[in-house]
Amino acid sequence: MRITDDIKYVGVNDHQIDLFEGQYRVPNGMAYNSYVVLDEKIAVFDTVDQHFTTEWLANLEKVLGTRKPDYLIVQHMEPDHSANIKVFTEKYPDATIVGNAKTFAMMDQFFDLDPALKRKEVKNNETLSLGKHVLTFVFAPMVHWPEVMVTYDSTDKVLFSADAFGKFGANDVQEPWDDEARRYYIGIVGKYGAQVQRLLKIAKTLDIQTICSLHGPVLVENLGHYISLYDTWSSYTPEADGICVAYTSVYGHTKTAVEKFVKSLHDKGCPNVAVYDLARDDMSQAVADAFRYSKLVLATTTYNADIYPFMRDFIDRLTERGFQKRTVGIIENGTWAPQVIKIIKEMFAKSRDIDFAENEVTIRSALKEDSSEKLEALANELCQDYIARSNEKADKNDLKALFKIGYGLYVVTCNDGRKDNGLIVNTVTQLTSSPNRIAVGINKQNYSHDVIKKTGILNVNCLSVDAPFSIFQHFGFQSGKNVDKFADFECLHSDNGLPFLTHYINAFMSLKVEQYLDLGTHGMFICSVTEARVMSDKDTMTYTYYQKNVKPKPETKGKKGWVCKVCGYVYEGETLPEDFVCPLCKHGAVDFEPIK
Ligand code: FEO
Repeated sequence: MRITDDIKYVGVNDHQIDLFEGQYRVPNGMAYNSYVVLDEKIAVFDTVDQHFTTEWLANLEKVLGTRKPDYLIVQHMEPDHSANIKVFTEKYPDATIVGNAKTFAMMDQFFDLDPALKRKEVKNNETLSLGKHVLTFVFAPMVHWPEVMVTYDSTDKVLFSADAFGKFGANDVQEPWDDEARRYYIGIVGKYGAQVQRLLKIAKTLDIQTICSLHGPVLVENLGHYISLYDTWSSYTPEADGICVAYTSVYGHTKTAVEKFVKSLHDKGCPNVAVYDLARDDMSQAVADAFRYSKLVLATTTYNADIYPFMRDFIDRLTERGFQKRTVGIIENGTWAPQVIKIIKEMFAKSRDIDFAENEVTIRSALKEDSSEKLEALANELCQDYIARSNEKADKNDLKALFKIGYGLYVVTCNDGRKDNGLIVNTVTQLTSSPNRIAVGINKQNYSHDVIKKTGILNVNCLSVDAPFSIFQHFGFQSGKNVDKFADFECLHSDNGLPFLTHYINAFMSLKVEQYLDLGTHGMFICSVTEARVMSDKDTMTYTYYQKNVKPKPETKGKKGWVCKVCGYVYEGETLPEDFVCPLCKHGAVDFEPIK
């Protein structure tokens, strides 16, 4: 394997190994790479696994010829690379061992070395000149042990990257790099994303033309591809669209459900589906694919009042590696006391940015009609984006899209000449800034519409995220036609004489109507700003925030019917009349959704 004129490969391939690190299956073996830089001084980079002493020393001798090495650079003390340090020092007693303080502490734990041995303890970013080649040592703690350092040869522009950019598989087996590099990275270095990110930041500042890792092939072309994958993996970003389905099944019922579910995913156009029987398939491959795809579905049984052991092991492997930024769906099976959903959620409690799918599937022993429906609902939920991207499968007239427009929530106040009034509005938009023009849309059925049309002035109170549900009830669920909303409500008045709220707003604006547009059901007031005050730096209450955090969750358990998305009112019945108006907030049937 040629690297450069001066840099030679002296590593070995291991086809005897059964489990790397005592746990990872490596059907195509493993490579322990070692390199020699031939210059005025000669440096050897790392040794190899203990089972390959003779082969490695022979490789070394062949490259050295009659010369002797001046340095053994120890980038990593894990025994797959360090096992032959003592043998090396016995064969080449005049060579200097190069490492950092942590390297030597570990070295003395593993070996009893001759005290007369020459040691060179380097600091971070220290350089070592071999003559033509200048080596810079860059500490990379926890990629993958604390003593790890990588080395940059600025002459040949080579990064000796220790474990980074390594893969499973011997170098005499041709196979794609990505899959086995992913399984290696996630399994071995996956927990240390932040540390890998730090190393990548440094790597960006270097002109790197070749990467010499301690495992896998020397990388010379398309380095951007490998570096970009490392960036994706170490930032825990999903690498590809798709769903990893991991399951265990005792008597086959959970497996049957998974098979049905997987078929449904394929039918709905899910671009990638990876399925693992955790008791039988390679666990490390399942872990790697859980990290690879954006969504994960876990299907398992309650077992000894816990979850099935292989599933517990799998989830532990994910969480200890910092699993995050993923959507997780759960399918549980339990004959008398299903516990899976609760336990899995607890297991992910400390994981960051995990979104659990809304549709949870509970199977009581075997799949039945209701659990099949839930299974289909979960498949629909997880494939929503894949379906919507498909020209053939997408619903192209889904007006729920309009709900995705971002809205703030506001109390608009006015005065009818006798009393102050206010209502909740979500249609306030700044149209222009020079001059400032604000548009406010109000339903004609609201009392305030007519008042503002007549008086030509209004105040817009921008609600902040601390506004309680009672504010929405007070201003949104009753009409100024028959209630004096400000009778006992604390407020102050702005220069235009209209009320503004003293709490729960972050700003208010006094507006003067410049133009009115009749929009049929609504009127739009296009206004100039006559006064504007910032009350606090709290975030603005958005419609989404209100739905998620303020509106009480409706009691729908065991009920069949419809629920008002605005106030949570529950209408029980088979069908909702088209002209139905919510008795609480007065919103129409369009704002109701079926109870799931
Ligand atoms: Fe290849 Fe962390 O040793």
